[in-house]
Amino acid sequence: MTTISPANPNGDESTTYAAALERSTVLDSLIDDSASADPQRFRMLTGDRPTGPLHIGHYLASLRNRVRLQNKGVETFVVIADYQVVTDRDSVGDLGENVYGLVLDYLAAGLDPERTTIFTHSAVPALNQLMLPFLSLVTDAELRRNPTVKDELALSGSRPLSGLLLTYPVHQAADLLFCHSRIVPVGRDQLPHLELTRSIARRFNTRYAAGQSVFAEPEALLGDVPLLLGTDGTKMAKSKGNVVNLRDSADETARRIRAARTDSERRITFDPVGRPEVANLLTVAGLFLGESPESVAEQVGNGGAAALKTTVVEAINEGLAGHRSRRAELARDRAAVTAVLHEGNARANEVAQRTLATVRAVMGMAY
Ligand code: TRP
Repeated sequence: MTTISPANPNGDESTTYAAALERSTVLDSLIDDSASADPQRFRMLTGDRPTGPLHIGHYLASLRNRVRLQNKGVETFVVIADYQVVTDRDSVGDLGENVYGLVLDYLAAGLDPERTTIFTHSAVPALNQLMLPFLSLVTDAELRRNPTVKDELALSGSRPLSGLLLTYPVHQAADLLFCHSRIVPVGRDQLPHLELTRSIARRFNTRYAAGQSVFAEPEALLGDVPLLLGTDGTKMAKSKGNVVNLRDSADETARRIRAARTDSERRITFDPVGRPEVANLLTVAGLFLGESPESVAEQVGNGGAAALKTTVVEAINEGLAGHRSRRAELARDRAAVTAVLHEGNARANEVAQRTLATVRAVMGMAY
């Protein structure tokens, strides 16, 4: 997950968002009704950049939701987007450890390698080959006005816009289209990329396939978890160190939450505008406990920040106890975890090769 685009002055972004939100509710009930009868119809792909460990924000907003969809019978693909790591930084960091850590968290959270294909970009060369015809279908102006790319460029300090940062949304279109995914569980910041993917699918069909439907247009499935703040009251981000990681111990979790910013009012109330840091802690606890933040506030009552933090620490540590013990158990057999990735890579390659063969045939390149 990356940045949230600030409100777009011409209102386009929020209109798209509202429409996507409404459609997500419809999709969710369609999945409820028929996913297990027709898993391919709802095939989903989503992914993460392996830039560091996953934190509770990822868990609450996306990981839990992926497992829920998988368990409803949706055929699932998860891409570990290693080529996206170098879109906005010079060094890849410890990719091996980061990728391994992601696979551990996926498995610990309940993604089942029998039903879910976990793979890395770099293991699937056909993705890069699909990117070339896809690039022919977009203009440089379209790429340059992508609000998420603009935000990422702004956040990367004085770095110039690299060719990869400009074009990675097209590579991401290849992620979605190679496996003919129909559903994309993502955050609001990814909507511009999805719109571009939908244009590419449409244009491919019209321009290169004489109107046949080689690619269907995938749809966003937005979650209902609000934007969570880090312990310093700003947006939760791996890079800022203001997060509780899934792999942290119970003690580390307590330390991080105890250091979180709050205020000195004794009475704890849920007031996202007036008391954003307190409201955020209440939201986190509520999500782990399956309760509303208001009801958590009532339970803490006049206990002040200290009691609030105790509640939050317990909610997180109890909520993650199963995940953390499964993670530790899985980590005892690194080879088995790596094998999951190798199998996922093999499966993704097979599917991508088939799609590439279709694309070549349709474009008259099957010699
Ligand atoms: N760009 C996404 C992120 O930063 C990760 C990602 C890569 C992705 N490919 C994807 C998400 C395809 C959804 C679909 O979070």
